[in-house]
Amino acid sequence: MLVNAAHMLQSAEAGHYGIGAFNTNNLEWTRSILTAAEEEQSPLIIQCTAGAAKWQKGFKVVHDVLVDLMDEMNITVPVALHLDHGSYEDCFKAIDAGFSSIMYDGSHEETFQINLDRTAELVKLAHSKGLSIEAEVGGIGGTEDGVTSAGELADPQECKQIADLGVDFLACGIGNIHGLYPADWKGLSMDRLAEIKALTGDLPLVLHGGTGIPTPMVQEAISHGISKINVNTDLQVVFAKATREYIEAGKDKQGKGYDPRKLLKPGFDAIVERTKELITDFGSNGKGWA
Ligand code: 13P
Repeated sequence: MLVNAAHMLQSAEAGHYGIGAFNTNNLEWTRSILTAAEEEQSPLIIQCTAGAAKWQKGFKVVHDVLVDLMDEMNITVPVALHLDHGSYEDCFKAIDAGFSSIMYDGSHEETFQINLDRTAELVKLAHSKGLSIEAEVGGIGGTEDGVTSAGELADPQECKQIADLGVDFLACGIGNIHGLYPADWKGLSMDRLAEIKALTGDLPLVLHGGTGIPTPMVQEAISHGISKINVNTDLQVVFAKATREYIEAGKDKQGKGYDPRKLLKPGFDAIVERTKELITDFGSNGKGWA
């Protein structure tokens, strides 16, 4: 059974460790991430964007694959299924499909007031159904059309306004960006993180763009109040690398090496190993039902 992500993140905030929120793209992804979390006895947030759900033919498929795998694999650690960067409309669809947690990303709305109003509405809806909800203040930069924008710094007063609506955890830009970081990236702003934390108290904060941030910097951010670390690209890169090595070694041409169960296995194993490493870096190993 799925749980919402509020309790596990409150425990992480109080215990000064982080919980990885890993994006899934398909059945192999979900199975690898579950395998890693179970082996490390870590609470887990599996998340999915609307785009990745569309690829899998909808939020319900993503949900059903996860809960069926949890049953078949006898998963004992708490698992939340979270909508990543949902639009207002996506939130309703994910709730209907059985997601246990949603993110409403109102940072792209025309005004901050719209973000505020819609977040308030969705907080009430999510909580009435026992779900947890994440909101976002300020945009998280990233690479669009080959141009990488600098990471934004969220306005601490806006963070407080959104926090006061009763969201369960909050994404705020502190110089982080999605995708791979450019060579001249200036790093996370611990000062801005401290300013936001001072106004939002024990609310768990979320670090998007978890790929490629030096481990000591992520750990410093965790010690300053980051409780959820979103990771997507990192697992895509290790999957692609392992698959490339398999093919470049000509293994798909040996025997039945073209069988998808063989072809996808190196990538599957690479995701398991990398997820386990990240869980240990964030410190949630052994925290099961803490
Ligand atoms: P990366 O792809 O940079 O790891 O970011 C993931 C993320 O923040 C999902 O919301």
